[in-house]
This record gives sequence, C-alpha cells and structure tokens, in this order.
Amino acid sequence: MIEEYEIKQITLEDLRSDQTGLLASNLAKLICDVFSEPPWYESYAQPRILFGLGVEMMRKTPILFIAQNNRSNKIIGYILGQELLKVTSDVRDQTLSKISSGTELDKYIEDNKRVFYVGGLGVAKDYRRMGVADKLSASLVLELKNQGFSYRLGRTDLAADKMRKLYIKQGFDELPVRDGVHVNRSYWLLRV
Ligand SMILES: CC(C)(COP(=O)(O)OP(=O)(O)OC[C@H]1O[C@@H](n2cnc3c(N)ncnc32)[C@H](O)[C@@H]1OP(=O)(O)O)[C@@H](O)C(=O)NCCC(=O)NCCS
Repeated sequence: MIEEYEIKQITLEDLRSDQTGLLASNLAKLICDVFSEPPWYESYAQPRILFGLGVEMMRKTPILFIAQNNRSNKIIGYILGQELLKVTSDVRDQTLSKISSGTELDKYIEDNKRVFYVGGLGVAKDYRRMGVADKLSASLVLELKNQGFSYRLGRTDLAADKMRKLYIKQGFDELPVRDGVHVNRSYWLLRV
C-alpha cells in the first residue's frame, strides 16, 4: 500500500527561503531520475536541472506542485509549468511559438484566453500507477481555474505511452501539431 503523501504548492519564495537547499536538490534529483528513462534518455547533471528550475520559476505565472511523502519528506512527484503568451516584449516570458518552434499552436487559443503550459511532470518509479500524477494534475487544474486560465497545454513524445494514456484519461485533445524541433512530440490541450 502507498505510504501517505501530501500535495503541496511550492513558490519561488519557498525555494529561496529553504536555507538547506534540500527542497530544490531533492526536486532536481527526481527530475534527473524520471527523465533518464525511455523515451527521454536525458542525462542532465543535477546542477543543470537546478539552474533550469530557477529559470522556470521566474517565468510568467509559474506554478509548481509537489507530492511529498509524509514520513520521509521525500519528493515523489512534481508538476511544473508557466503561462504562455502569443506575443510578448519580455524575454523572460515564453510564447506558444517559442515553446513549439512554430506558429501552428496560436490558432487553437483565442486572443483573450489564458493558457498554461506544463513543461515537467514526473513521479518516482516506486510510486507509479497509484494516482499521484492524477492528483498533481487535479491540483494544478483547480489552481488554474482559480487564476482564470482557460487552457492547459502539454506536449509529449509519440512513444510516451503512459503520458499519452494519462492525457486521454484526463480529457485532453491531441492537437494535429508537432513540435518544430522535437518532431516526434505532439501537443495536447485541455479546456479547464
Ligand atoms: C507518466 C507518469 C507521470 C504517470 O505517473 P503516475 O503517478 O504513475 O500516473 P497515475 O497513477 O496518476 O495514472 C493516471 C493515468 O495515467 C495512465 N497511466 C499511467 N501509467 C500507466 C501505465 N504504466 N500504463 C498504462 N497507463 C498508465 C492511466 O490512464 C492512469 O489511469 P488508471 O490508473 O486509472 O488507468 C509517470 O509514469 C512518469 O513519471 N513517467 C516518466 C516521466 C514522464 O514521462 N513524464 C511525462 C513527460 S511529458
């Protein structure tokens, strides 16, 4: 049986005020682990992930939820994303076209609607298929509704079966849009 865990929202301030740095380093470890698996096969060093985490948390409207084991405090899952715009003059902001290296996504989002893109979702191997990703996603969607977002966008590899099944279960539509750089990755959209 799965040990008890808690879903918590983590802000940039939480990461800044964690003098031990354990929160960020535990999260970076989880990210390294889950994305070393197929079909990702990434071999990021932890300091590179830590840097990326800092950058992502300073984008427009970053939202991060973690799942944390109540007993050990181990981070067993996370979901992290940011708001995407159609156009922006601020280099820190991401746009639909920068994320996808193309202009196709723009037509799926009305000009006056807000869209949130999840760049990272992962659950530690020992805790898989127990509903952790479902719970993280549900917490995020609730927060997106509270903040007035209309859409939640994601991208995954055509070979990422688990993630594709998760999107289908959660009611996402797969868009006929492939990423301009990672051509085996398609986009998925949910109206929240
Ligand atoms: C994809 C991932 C986040 C799923 O996490 P999880 O906590 O195990 O998922 P959940 O238990 O919440 O499952 C939710 C749904 O996803 C689908 N799913 C998840 N794992 C699956 C599997 N091994 N086989 C088939 N469907 C699966 C199912 O639809 C499942 O619902 P169900 O159990 O009612 O059938 C996890 O496998 C992971 O971290 N993978 C590596 C990193 C990754 O690929 N991230 C996505 C990047 S885009």
